[in-house]
Amino acid sequence: MDWQTAIERALNTVRLDIKRFGNSFPLVSEGGGSYILTNHSSWTEGFWSGMLWLGYEYSKDAELHAAAVRSVSSLKARMEAGQDLDHHDIGFLYSLSAKAGWIVDRDEDSRVLALQAADVLMKRWRSAPQLFQAWGPEGDADNGGRIIIDCLLNLPLLYWATEQTGDARYAECARIHAEKSRRFLVRGDDSSFHTFYFDQTTGDSLRGGTHQGFRDGSTWTRGQAWGIYGFALAYRYFKDPAYLETSRRLARYFVEHLPEDHVAYWDFDAPQVPGTPRDSSASAIAVCGILELLEHLPEGDADREFFSRSVELTMDSLLSSYFTAGSETEEGLMRHGSYSVRGNSAPDDFVIWGDYFFLEALLRLQQGIPGYWYER
Ligand code: GLY
Repeated sequence: MDWQTAIERALNTVRLDIKRFGNSFPLVSEGGGSYILTNHSSWTEGFWSGMLWLGYEYSKDAELHAAAVRSVSSLKARMEAGQDLDHHDIGFLYSLSAKAGWIVDRDEDSRVLALQAADVLMKRWRSAPQLFQAWGPEGDADNGGRIIIDCLLNLPLLYWATEQTGDARYAECARIHAEKSRRFLVRGDDSSFHTFYFDQTTGDSLRGGTHQGFRDGSTWTRGQAWGIYGFALAYRYFKDPAYLETSRRLARYFVEHLPEDHVAYWDFDAPQVPGTPRDSSASAIAVCGILELLEHLPEGDADREFFSRSVELTMDSLLSSYFTAGSETEEGLMRHGSYSVRGNSAPDDFVIWGDYFFLEALLRLQQGIPGYWYER
């Protein structure tokens, strides 16, 4: 199936979903074809908003635009109510909703909302250990000094806030955090820890660990994918070659450890036996990350062909064996995502971030539309 056909089929499902979801937001499915809906109790509401913006940018369809604008209003009400904002995933929530509204429509209220979100994210900055605390209250015994690789996709909201306001503090804290992530989450063999602990008073490094991976020292595939994309975006902003190199190393490891069908299992170290779940969302994120990486690798770079080929192979596999291809009954776009195999939460299901990154990958490939991580 070509990319244009895939986008059009995906948007058929999205249009049906607008009616099915009403004012709620999809999270994951659990065993069936329907999404469990949320109303601002998750880190994921931005992904649906981002899909609506992508769909509108592609189609210029007023129905998609109206739904995208409604979703931003809903995220605005969440901000005003201060509902479930006490975590680092503010970047996911507001980059793909309010910041997208600014990028697409140049809507000033959306810009203001995205900047408010950046200020909320800054409340997660901990000056003693010099990091953004992902989860839990300040001083929390377990999470107080803990970073997680996923946070690299929350940082672009801060890069953008510095560009918009001229206040260097957002990007400077983000740079320190990205640098810590590079030094401690990425291992010598180019695999990665999901999370890393620091002493929250002294900032001393303690140990790597996992939250959703197979074991503490394993490589959770979605974490590796967050790293590919996150470091490529850090390079776009800071132009520090170390970030480009780190993205490249993580990408090479990811591609070289894929199974025969070029779509990742949920953890590179999980035993691969019949029935081991995939995480198609990890592969969709990795494709977007590699496409971003390719934007920065010079013409003639020895890895360009290897990475371009990997994108083709993975997208072919996702399109032929994972994509619901415009289904009128299945609400998701991409089967076989996993939220947490370890926690037995949606281990082999639709996951809304998988659908978002699948659509972003298609739009990057077909239209050169790169999502909403940076100002265009
Ligand atoms: N950022 C949460 C996850 O990837 O599951």
